[in-house]
Amino acid sequence: MTANATAPTTAGGHTSEFARTSRTDRWWVGPVLTVIGLAVCVTYMTWAAFQAQHYWWGSYLSPLYSPVLFGSPEGTPGAAPAEHVLFGPWPSWWPPFIPASPAFWILVFPGAFRFTCYYYRKAYYRSFTATPPGCAVCPVRQTSYRGETRWLLFQNWHRYAMYFAVIFIFILAYDALISFVRVDPVTGAKQFGIGVGSLVLTLNVVLLSGYTFGCHSFRHVIGGGRNRFSGASGKPSLFYRIWQKASWLNARHMLFAWTSLYWVTFCDFYIRMVSMGYIRDYNTWD
Ligand code: FES
Repeated sequence: MTANATAPTTAGGHTSEFARTSRTDRWWVGPVLTVIGLAVCVTYMTWAAFQAQHYWWGSYLSPLYSPVLFGSPEGTPGAAPAEHVLFGPWPSWWPPFIPASPAFWILVFPGAFRFTCYYYRKAYYRSFTATPPGCAVCPVRQTSYRGETRWLLFQNWHRYAMYFAVIFIFILAYDALISFVRVDPVTGAKQFGIGVGSLVLTLNVVLLSGYTFGCHSFRHVIGGGRNRFSGASGKPSLFYRIWQKASWLNARHMLFAWTSLYWVTFCDFYIRMVSMGYIRDYNTWD
């Protein structure tokens, strides 16, 4: 690195104009990619949630709609069958101007988990608010640093959102399992098989598990409150071994954050395209 001689500086030697820095690397690549990546995924997921149809095909259920708490209104194309609905038909009091989308009931849970994630917080603070846009890069506003205080205290809910995220892993694992079973439309018999969609949904659970079980809050719950990990027998305790695995995932949290986000988005896209007849699902049933 070389000092930027022309930029005005503050006490301490840092430059004091937005985005000015003494860094010579391409520090802006990360924030730009973050803006593009999050904008693509969030825009697609919002659009997909408002579609309220084509979220089911064969035995594939889009993770953006799982679990299906209330069944879509009669005649909705690509809707989950009644036996896969938890609480019955769509509520009659639902406002008619809002699409009857099962996604609206559940997306708040994974959404809250992602939004308050320690990694994503760093990423969107830098890329969307530029406060600062990078290490040793001048922020858009130079106010005294207050950290995550005042209304930003809601970010502490992450530790509670984590429990819901763990529950969702089991729900999505169940969805992945049933994606290997198809009901014969003629005989009604269940047939084991495998399709591209089965693999897509299975990989989704693997990536989401890598993200969820590498969560800082999960790692703390598993091992944070213990004074010693060793068991009475002298062997490492079960919690210690889980904590080690969580620590391995935690060191790769950014990787799992992005791969799982893109893959969960792709899962919906794949099932939607198959359900709408735009692409064919290669499988052992047809
Ligand atoms: Fe990222 Fe918990 S810190 S999911």
